[in-house]
Amino acid sequence: VSSYEKAPHSHSHGRESGPAGIHRRADRGVRALGHAVRKVGVKTDLQPLDDALVDFDPHICFNLLEDFAGHVTRDQHVVSYLELLNRPYTGCNPRGLTLARDKALTKKILTFHGIAVPRFQVFPLNRSPKKTDDLPYPLFVKSLTEEGSTGISQASLVTTDTQLVERVEFIHKTLGTDAIAEQYIDGRELYVSLLGNRQLQLFPIWELDFANLPPEVARIATKKVKFDTAYQKRHGIISRPATDLSPQLESRILDICKQSYRALELSGYARIDLRLTSDNEIYLLEANPNPQIARSEDFSDSAAASGYNYETLLQKIVSLGLYYQPLGIAA
Ligand SMILES: Nc1ncnc2c1ncn2[C@@H]1O[C@H](COP(=O)(O)OP(=O)(O)O)[C@@H](O)[C@H]1O
Ligand SMILES: [Mg+2]
Repeated sequence: VSSYEKAPHSHSHGRESGPAGIHRRADRGVRALGHAVRKVGVKTDLQPLDDALVDFDPHICFNLLEDFAGHVTRDQHVVSYLELLNRPYTGCNPRGLTLARDKALTKKILTFHGIAVPRFQVFPLNRSPKKTDDLPYPLFVKSLTEEGSTGISQASLVTTDTQLVERVEFIHKTLGTDAIAEQYIDGRELYVSLLGNRQLQLFPIWELDFANLPPEVARIATKKVKFDTAYQKRHGIISRPATDLSPQLESRILDICKQSYRALELSGYARIDLRLTSDNEIYLLEANPNPQIARSEDFSDSAAASGYNYETLLQKIVSLGLYYQPLGIAA
């Protein structure tokens, strides 16, 4: 089930989405395991899904939805719908999707659990931005809900009231979502991929190495940094295992990720984005349920480093979906 109709070439704005060819590749991967697969595009209407559930009657829906009707916060409702129909699906449950998609709610919950997150303020749509006095610059402005670095560029980093207001209004106008301004965390960019419902499996800590970006360029994962291969090549940007962390630091980071996955009630699989300061302070930036699982993406690469080949990884995701017990439903 994906947001793309039959030929998945076009690609809507949104989540950690590289080229939509991912849908073809994941589809091929699942077929290679011997499963019968039918692709269903769900864009603005659930009829194609309903039809496939009747005609094809699958054991499970492999969820590759990134949005519903262009809204990245609405795919969770499609998952809720599957749950109401008692249809197994892969990836995160609707409650986890709701909690993790909201970058403010995520931080409120994690703060309760003692996990360090950037301080922040939300600037709602249709209200003129007024910053509170107790949130010092530099700040980082982004959409409260969008994914895949949508709306993120060097201009997201602001140091004055004028820049802040400009950027908040830019987010409001161009994305039509609330904006969030966060304490800017200067540091290394780390990603941790996890699998599991109750028992969790963590893959090695991954790092986005900004390498030889010119010093005046802030080290942030813009769309260009994430998806523009020519730009990556030009500046030597790569993601790779973070191999130089002390065992203590490594286990602190993995603990934080495990606790956060549970605190946000995630299931299936997720990737957690973190920053590590030069004083070895760890800040959690966001949790990404149902992250990009194409071959050669951070999730599958770090799984491969744990000995999972791609097909085994897909099969594990299918099994987790089949065994997931929805909230409030007795086994
Ligand atoms: N508070 C912050 N401090 C420093 N960098 C940040 C902060 N928030 C976001 N970034 C940078 O922007 C990137 C994208 O932000 P993120 O919140 O992960 O949004 P998305 O959902 O678009 O991936 C991060 O990977 C990081 O490089
Ligand atoms: Mg991110």
